[in-house]
Amino acid sequence: MPRPSAIIRIEGVKKRYVLGGENEVLALRHVDLAVEAGTYLAIMGPSGSGKSTMLNILGCLDRPSAGSYWLGGEDVSRMPDDQLSEARGRKIGFIFQSYNLIAQLTVLENIQVPLLYQGKDVRLFHDRCLDLARLVGLGDRLGHRPNQLSGGQQQRVAIARSLVNDPLMLLADEPTGNLDSRTGTEVLDLIDRLNQAGKTIILVTHDERVAARAHRVVHMKDGVIDREVVNRPPPAPSR
Ligand SMILES: Nc1ncnc2c1ncn2[C@@H]1O[C@H](COP(=O)(O)OP(=O)(O)OP(=O)(O)O)[C@@H](O)[C@H]1O
Ligand SMILES: [Mg+2]
Repeated sequence: MPRPSAIIRIEGVKKRYVLGGENEVLALRHVDLAVEAGTYLAIMGPSGSGKSTMLNILGCLDRPSAGSYWLGGEDVSRMPDDQLSEARGRKIGFIFQSYNLIAQLTVLENIQVPLLYQGKDVRLFHDRCLDLARLVGLGDRLGHRPNQLSGGQQQRVAIARSLVNDPLMLLADEPTGNLDSRTGTEVLDLIDRLNQAGKTIILVTHDERVAARAHRVVHMKDGVIDREVVNRPPPAPSR
């Protein structure tokens, strides 16, 4: 049985991509992983080892072909599509390498986008969105559009957006991959602060210095977790 404090528990997860005919890729061969709430976990491994596939499954963007996944105590591996996307919107914030902001919208409007997906009245969340813009240091850029911002600023908008539904956890796939090292450090410092405030973070990276910030580092190889390194103990499970 999953421990009540494990925010994530996946068991025997496989992911098979069928490319037509006999052609298929077993991107995840067998993955078990439990993550306690408040943990900062990094996923490393060579290109093609299954990191993004794993993150997409953890983020309920995709489903395992076999195995089970409990997220915050709910078995999401067998949920119907509409419930799955509802759980995703409620529980998970995403940060992508390429920011994925909407070019026509301002900073403030981009931060509000997940509220719209949840069918919420954005006016009721105006103060929250302002607070998030300030949290990421963009309180004076609310009316700017993405092309009027630096890469680091755009990624900080994406981080504010990922927090707007107060998700259980943040998932990030190479969040500093497009940033220079100083700007990348600023973004990573912000992620550190969010983790220190209690947010669970799962981040895919190729960079050892990024992974060094995490509590735990899992190394993937050929669709399995090959080994794990604990940099420092994750927070004790709360009872
Ligand atoms: N939609 C898809 N259809 C078919 N095969 C896929 C699909 N997505 C990924 N794969 C395959 O699954 C394997 C794992 O891919 P994945 O994207 O998870 O790797 P990764 O570890 O994130 O690599 P990178 O570091 O290059 O981002 C690869 O062999 C890839 O070609
Ligand atoms: Mg990838």
